[in-house]
Amino acid sequence: MTFTPQTPAAEITASFPEAVQGKTILITGVSPGSLGLATAEAFASQLPTNLIISGRFTKKVQAAITHLESTYPATTYHSLIMDLSSQKIRVMSIPTRTLTEDGLETTFATNHIGHLLFTNRILSKLIKAASTTTTTTKASHSGLAPPTRIINLSSFGHKFSPVRFTDLSFPNLPNELPESERPDLRMTEYLTGNSHADEAYYGLFSYGQSKTANILHAISLNQKLLAKYNIAAFAVHPGAVDTGIGRHVTPSDVEAALQRVKDLGMDPTQKSREVVDVDSGDGQVKGVYLADCKVDDGGVVAFATDRGIAERLWSTA
Ligand SMILES: NC(=O)c1ccc[n+]([C@@H]2O[C@H](COP(=O)([O-])OP(=O)(O)OC[C@H]3O[C@@H](n4cnc5c(N)ncnc54)[C@H](OP(=O)(O)O)[C@@H]3O)[C@@H](O)[C@H]2O)c1
Repeated sequence: MTFTPQTPAAEITASFPEAVQGKTILITGVSPGSLGLATAEAFASQLPTNLIISGRFTKKVQAAITHLESTYPATTYHSLIMDLSSQKIRVMSIPTRTLTEDGLETTFATNHIGHLLFTNRILSKLIKAASTTTTTTKASHSGLAPPTRIINLSSFGHKFSPVRFTDLSFPNLPNELPESERPDLRMTEYLTGNSHADEAYYGLFSYGQSKTANILHAISLNQKLLAKYNIAAFAVHPGAVDTGIGRHVTPSDVEAALQRVKDLGMDPTQKSREVVDVDSGDGQVKGVYLADCKVDDGGVVAFATDRGIAERLWSTA
């Protein structure tokens, strides 16, 4: 079976019905027009037993559930209202530096810390699910990753910045940071048409840091959960999709950036059904970052796959 970057999500889930049927799946960030809702629809089409729909506003979550129920009534839907940052602020390219009530930069707090804490809170349920699944349906997934999975939505945007351990909340200019923590000024300048060398905070720096953290988090989860509990974690770049994510940038900025990405020669890669084993060895970790329906070890920057950095991030949280 061959997928292209344009293959609809529902077609892909229809190719793996056994991975969805009878399952309980929890999705964060489900709002109208978001990837969360598109993901929920794709899963709902393959009859999971439970879909837990999470967002920070009851009204939006309820609207999503009403929509899903009308098309896919066989699944039971549950709402889970939570604000992953404790602040009512968006998740990408926030124009100015903002801190949460805990003093964390908001993008990092929402995209990484909130998800890390939430994952830890539901870990006992995941472990229980994995132990049940192991004895009942594992055989039917032979060759695929374990059926109990944690999927972090990362992004190509991780390339903009490593985790700034000495400067998580952005008080410092890029050239004041240790070399290993500096954002990719060349890439941000190329994509935006402006130099950001003199900005301590820039939205794509904070987004990049948080998306790198999503990959490192998946690495640490595998290290702690894969061998012991048969739970796998991945970090996925979903591709560029017109959602609410661009609310802080103008359409012409997006268009210019997409053109520059094309100029860089980044062609969509052929998708495949294959899911390789997650490498839980030392050093550079492979098999954790996915894009276009395949493991994309070539598309991830080394600072996002280093086990030592992943461990450092884990102990920072
Ligand atoms: N779209 C793309 O091109 C693209 C590309 C690469 C990666 N991604 C990744 O895909 C993921 C989803 O993005 P999207 O495109 O679906 O963006 P989106 O349309 O902006 O959706 C983001 C979702 O996150 C929710 N959210 C924001 N702040 C929150 C908080 N503090 N607590 C709980 N929920 C919160 C939003 O809820 P509200 O509706 O209440 O704001 C919304 O449901 C992100 O992790 C993004 O980095 C997207």
